[in-house]
Amino acid sequence: MPETVRDTKIVELLNEAYGKEQQLTVALEQHLQATTRPDYEKRLTDHLKETKAHAKAVSKRITQLGGTPAEVSLPGPEGVSKAAQGMQDMLAKAKAAAQAPLDVVRGAGEQARMVHNARVELEEEAHEIATYTVIDSLATAVGDSETAQLARNILREEERMQKYLVGVLRELSVDMAHDEIPVSEINGPAARRAAPRQKTTSTR
Ligand SMILES: [Fe+2]
Ligand SMILES: [Fe+2]
Repeated sequence: MPETVRDTKIVELLNEAYGKEQQLTVALEQHLQATTRPDYEKRLTDHLKETKAHAKAVSKRITQLGGTPAEVSLPGPEGVSKAAQGMQDMLAKAKAAAQAPLDVVRGAGEQARMVHNARVELEEEAHEIATYTVIDSLATAVGDSETAQLARNILREEERMQKYLVGVLRELSVDMAHDEIPVSEINGPAARRAAPRQKTTSTR
């Protein structure tokens, strides 16, 4: 346990971020399998690496502050702290919840699935940006410059991913229009844009 209320509070926030990073490692791996665009796949692969590095750095800082990183993959309930077990349960539920919408869109077009995943990713980046903004601000306010610096370094990468996702989500949405709406019904600019691929999805 951290020795001060200050460090306890920071560890609590860092563990929240750590849990999210672990959850996103799983989600990004799943999304990578559903991605057919090479540039998007490359960016997802890069951010998966960054996400793993975020988890590692946050976990290290938690330990430095005298806290215990709440791990996701645990050998069993024996010897596991209540907080860690609670975190594991929470993540298991979050994982299940994240998978549910994928089932809903199963059977839908490939582009629709990619739009769905990109939306989820964008929402998750916003979640991370909010969390690290709080950590940076609180740590700065109480004089923990090391935690504040860590949060700002991670924030930069989350913001870069967020920016990329906004752009790719726009493009994927246009692809989805081509995939799902007959050309004869398109009156907007999408009518002039070449369809990214044929409607049959089995050849990919
Ligand atoms: Fe992250
Ligand atoms: Fe992220």
